[in-house]
Amino acid sequence: MDNSKLKAEILKLKDELHVSIVAHFYQKDEVFELADFAGDSLQLAQWAAKDKNPYLLFCGVGFMGQSVKILAPEKRVLMPKIACCAMARMIDVDYFDQNVALLEKAGIAKEDILPVTYINSSADVKARIGMMGGYVCTSSNAKKIITKALESNKKILFVPDRCLGQNIAKEMGLKSCIVGDGSDPKEADILCYNGFCSVHQLFDVDDIAFYRAKYPGILIVTHPECKPDVCDLSDFVGSTSQIIEYVKKLPLDQKVAIGTEYNMIKRLRKENTYVLSSSKPECPTMNETTLQDVYNVLLSIKEGRFENEIMISEETRKWAHVALNRMFEL
Ligand code: 13P
Ligand code: SF4
Repeated sequence: MDNSKLKAEILKLKDELHVSIVAHFYQKDEVFELADFAGDSLQLAQWAAKDKNPYLLFCGVGFMGQSVKILAPEKRVLMPKIACCAMARMIDVDYFDQNVALLEKAGIAKEDILPVTYINSSADVKARIGMMGGYVCTSSNAKKIITKALESNKKILFVPDRCLGQNIAKEMGLKSCIVGDGSDPKEADILCYNGFCSVHQLFDVDDIAFYRAKYPGILIVTHPECKPDVCDLSDFVGSTSQIIEYVKKLPLDQKVAIGTEYNMIKRLRKENTYVLSSSKPECPTMNETTLQDVYNVLLSIKEGRFENEIMISEETRKWAHVALNRMFEL
């Protein structure tokens, strides 16, 4: 089937079966255009959990679909592709426990550690963190959540994105370190797990220097998953939805170079808008989802096969929900 035929079939099946479709900003245009709702990871989880349709087709990466299932267990959540965010894949419960053990070895008791996980982690990791009294955060609310977590007077173990942890620490005038890199964690307030997003690592201070030299007055806008030296030199740092809001308010003749995923940048604004990298910053897992995958999963609902349905054990869901809820309560 060609794309326009596929699209028409998808819309027909979607209505017939009472399926809502949501898409993250990084999805390919043809998938993005089908969505009933598009947003950042926090907005998607909130919208989808409240949606009335019994079936949800989540076009994004695995942890995002899991977040909806954690919040709304009665809903059948399916994904066109079970594509796992490369950063989320860098941490599992064993690695998390190993980091806690390393900190204990360095002289920090487990009771003195409060874990905070970026939403880009599996339900299992969120559940472990829920059990330890910890929080989930997203890039749009990380500062608020860490401020709250620090009221405990404990050390914050921030997983899995070292860049987000370091960027927030800098913004708040706090000290951070990377667990296991040889530095003394007792000297730091925020102890970062050594994970990162390979897409956002692409942006570099040299790219900023290049654009500033070529277009004096250009604004540099980046996501907090970028390296701390890149964020330091940026005019604005924010989550995907915060970047969109910021750029949309700029006058059209204002040049801007953006450091985040390619699909989102090219959709955001045509004029005077540049990708802050000489290579194309495409998220491989976000780009895995195709129109054909969306169609296949809808067909599987119709035929009662429920392909790529998100399943989480009740014990894991319950504790992951505790960690997510602590974020929503704030
Ligand atoms: P947002 O929460 O800003 O949408 O970011 C999710 C993500 O994976 C960015 O790489
Ligand atoms: Fe994960 Fe990076 Fe892709 Fe975001 S851009 S989904 S953090 S791999």
